[in-house]
Amino acid sequence: MGINVNEKERYFSITTRNTEYQLKADRFGVLKHLWYGGKTGCDMEYLLEYPDVGFSGAIYEADNDRTYSLDTMPLEYPCGGVGDFRISAIEVTHADGSTALDLRYKGYCVKDGKYDIPGLPAVHAEKTKAQTFEITLCDTATDTEVILRYGVLEELDIITRSAEIRNNGDSPIFLKKAASFSLDVPYGNWEWIHFQGRHTLERLPERAPLIHGIQESSNIRGASSHQQNPSFIICSPDCGERYGKCYGAFLVYSGSFQTQIELDQLNQTRAVMGINPRLFGWKLNVGESFHTPEAVMTYSGSGFSKLSHNFHKVIRENICRGKYKLAERPVLINNWEATYFDFDANKIQTIAENAAALGADMLVLDDGWFGKRDSDCSGLGDWFVNEKKLPGGLGTLVEKVKALGMKFGLWFEPEMVSEDSELYRVHPDWAIKIPDRKPTRGRYQLVLDMSRKDVRDYLYDSIAAILKSAEISYIKWDANRSICDWYSGELSAERQDELPHRYILGLYELFERLNTDFPNVLFEGCSGGGGRFDAGMLYYCPQIWCSDDTDAFERAKIQYGTSFIYPISTIGSHVSVVPNHQTGRITPIETRAVTAMAGSFGYELDLGTLSDEEKNAVSEQIKRFKKYDPLIHGGRYYRLSNPTTENIALWEYASEDMSEVLIHGMVFRTEPNMKCIAIKAVLDPECKYKISGSTEVYTGAALMNGGILLPKTWGDYCPIEIHLIKQNIE
Ligand code: GLA
Repeated sequence: MGINVNEKERYFSITTRNTEYQLKADRFGVLKHLWYGGKTGCDMEYLLEYPDVGFSGAIYEADNDRTYSLDTMPLEYPCGGVGDFRISAIEVTHADGSTALDLRYKGYCVKDGKYDIPGLPAVHAEKTKAQTFEITLCDTATDTEVILRYGVLEELDIITRSAEIRNNGDSPIFLKKAASFSLDVPYGNWEWIHFQGRHTLERLPERAPLIHGIQESSNIRGASSHQQNPSFIICSPDCGERYGKCYGAFLVYSGSFQTQIELDQLNQTRAVMGINPRLFGWKLNVGESFHTPEAVMTYSGSGFSKLSHNFHKVIRENICRGKYKLAERPVLINNWEATYFDFDANKIQTIAENAAALGADMLVLDDGWFGKRDSDCSGLGDWFVNEKKLPGGLGTLVEKVKALGMKFGLWFEPEMVSEDSELYRVHPDWAIKIPDRKPTRGRYQLVLDMSRKDVRDYLYDSIAAILKSAEISYIKWDANRSICDWYSGELSAERQDELPHRYILGLYELFERLNTDFPNVLFEGCSGGGGRFDAGMLYYCPQIWCSDDTDAFERAKIQYGTSFIYPISTIGSHVSVVPNHQTGRITPIETRAVTAMAGSFGYELDLGTLSDEEKNAVSEQIKRFKKYDPLIHGGRYYRLSNPTTENIALWEYASEDMSEVLIHGMVFRTEPNMKCIAIKAVLDPECKYKISGSTEVYTGAALMNGGILLPKTWGDYCPIEIHLIKQNIE
């Protein structure tokens, strides 16, 4: 395993536990991609036999060899302007206005440990065995260098990618596109899956066969977005949860991204992913470098479950950081759906008392505690306590909450500003807007220019002052609009294209300062629910509010889609009131609880309004969640049904050794005289299992192949919970 090099052949092979990745610099120094997939033990170049390539053109040195063309061969980091007419990974404009870049092999190096990326979040591997492979390419006409970096986490079957573009020439160049990676898959028929949606319905998987030409998943909203997610899967047409081949990738980036997948004239597939070039430009002065965000890739020869397990592990252990990454998270009560803006200290105190009595660990005070903020029309930017609502300031309330045995958390929306705020009146130039144009408003608010140091310093000082004023253990970091009207008063005209990426770099810098200075604070990301649910945010916030839709039926679908890439511990999920505030739907409290348990669990309703029976249920649910927390967050997660097409939502948490399994879900519609449903779990077929609450013992093989019979369901959205324990084999 590891990185194997044949210097003479300029052949490189990266092997992980179950996968292999091969590259070769050919006789012209063109870096070809030979293979990514299961282990082969063979140089896969033999597959690259091309007939006359017709209208595709050849590089100059190939003379009249009509079988050699950049336009048809698999390339590791394809560049524009020199005869590959498919999607390119990099595009530049040189000082003379020309746009060609002809990257050829220059050298390589192998290092122990995983590389970092300056100013950007990336996979870290302090405790995991990791290596870095670097390969340098150069455009000799301009001395532009590209260093491709690969982080190899062997045990996890993970390969990371990032590129550094260096201007070693004698004039500035302008980057128009700098993708994090390109992956050519020259063989096989493939389908692709991306995750699409909207506010309150995020990350639904959409699967389609590839068609010739380019298919795209992307956005230009300034954030990773509700609408598309910076992640995708390419899979064989027969691929399912536990069989079939699939490749997956996600970006460790929170800004606008672009994934393009092209099926070319020879039925070869190319995937390119990175910052969205529609919202990007970068001037690279002589001697400067640009680093792309990181992409994380995996391959599974045994279906989506394995792909998800690889991603879950790397995100939980090697992207999330800090005290809380593997720790049990507090069960919280959030006041948003209980009060919206209509609260005072007494109301919050009562919500806290009710929650403490039922076993919650933390009270989170949501929007409305600061400035003049009685609706969403004003106050953003004024991060000082509204003493009319909270007399005595936060300290008084926090002490009362602490006296109940609970921690205290607080909502912020640091990147935004209301025009009706003290901050905007003093610093209108801090908002992103174009001089002499009226800016677009989103939720009545404007966006602060996070590329400015003075803006970041103001935010750091304001947040730090609040964190120091009282014992605050958690921050929910919201961002409630998409960004447009891009313009920064601090950038010259030729650099305005840099603003969207500089915004994200600024955001990350602010997070880094706060993470470092307040290591005990748990940060939860949020953007109108899951509008910025990405691995970049997870580097700073180990959990993210998954969606503003808290309806259990809808959430089952949203969490199903989210789980393809992101682990359960990252998914913020709460039990809310019925009729649900987003859909009007009524679901049983137990169904809402099992759905919310597939995440960092909490409640978001006025518990005081519940009946005694419901209160008992809540108290029992919190106890049950705490008991199962190590299994739910630390175990392997299996999707047992597809709730977007079936009448049942079903998922499983299994311990690594398969000795304990918990199955949760719901049957959507009950029909009269329905045949008993037998659900097929993932178990160790060789072992015997006892179902909690019953005396019967079954073989794993029976429960996997025949299934577990569900008790008769009654009503709609009927909850399911089945707990299985492995029995000693006689
Ligand atoms: C966003 C969040 C909600 C809530 C509101 C407050 O919509 O997703 O959970 O915090 O903002 O304004």
